Amino acid sequence: MHRGKGMKFVGDSRVPVKSRKFIPPKDYSEYPGKTEAFLPNFLLKEWMVGAVFLVGFMILTIADPAPLEKEADPTSSGYIPLPDWYFLFLYQLLKYPAASGQYKVIGTVLIPGLAAVALLAAPWLDRGLERRPIKRPIATLIMLLTFVSMIYLTWESTVSHNWEQAEQQGKIVQTVDFDKSDPGYKLFSQNCSSCHGENLEGAVGPSLIGKNLDPAMVKKMATQGGGQMPAGVFKGSDKDLDALAKFVSDVSKK
Ligand code: HEC
Repeated sequence: MHRGKGMKFVGDSRVPVKSRKFIPPKDYSEYPGKTEAFLPNFLLKEWMVGAVFLVGFMILTIADPAPLEKEADPTSSGYIPLPDWYFLFLYQLLKYPAASGQYKVIGTVLIPGLAAVALLAAPWLDRGLERRPIKRPIATLIMLLTFVSMIYLTWESTVSHNWEQAEQQGKIVQTVDFDKSDPGYKLFSQNCSSCHGENLEGAVGPSLIGKNLDPAMVKKMATQGGGQMPAGVFKGSDKDLDALAKFVSDVSKK
């Protein structure tokens, strides 16, 4: 029988059992109706699949946009970074005393290095002919243990992460320029900046920038408070209150 006759598909991996080596046919005329032209048929199909994935990714990025944080500041030592999800298990590993501090070589080089080498060497270490997992208990067990610990570490890293603080630390704060020698600013830093920030950018209290605040409303907040803001935070004369309200209102409109 001619080699290849009786086979259903080109590229099928069911190479005849007896054959010592696989000899590809010289041309595919033996498979009428089973081949197609590369240009345009095949390429068009590839493009269509590509377009589906591209649109899918675009929908994903619009539905769940990557969080934008303020500009990176290399001098800030308080910033707690978080790696992408596929590195979270390694990140979590480095939090344990036995793999961090003076033992950080264990967490950064030894354990990941051993795992990578073991994976590379697996075909030489595990030379059995069995393919069913149940007949290869050692390899299966090691793989399962690895999976379980990776999933556990990833999980631990997400529940032990301070998400609230993380959201605060990267927050984009709007800033405006204003005259710090303004008498209103002095009153602001005495009475309000502890909660609203030195530059009105917000801290415990909200940012006042871009809020278009009415002077009367600022006065009311300063004396009576409102919502989460306590009453009576302003201490000073009525004249001072006017100056403060004008200053805050002006900056909030910049
Ligand atoms: C103890 C902290 C604290 C201090 C001090 C404080 N504030 Fe507030 N302020 C807040 C909080 C919290 C809010 C948010 C209130 C809410 O909506 O629940 C707020 C809200 C405001 C708002 C409304 C902002 C908006 O988005 O509408 C104004 C105006 C304001 N504060 C002005 C002042 C002024 C002026 C002073 C100084 C006299 C001052 N605050 C001092 C905590 C403070």
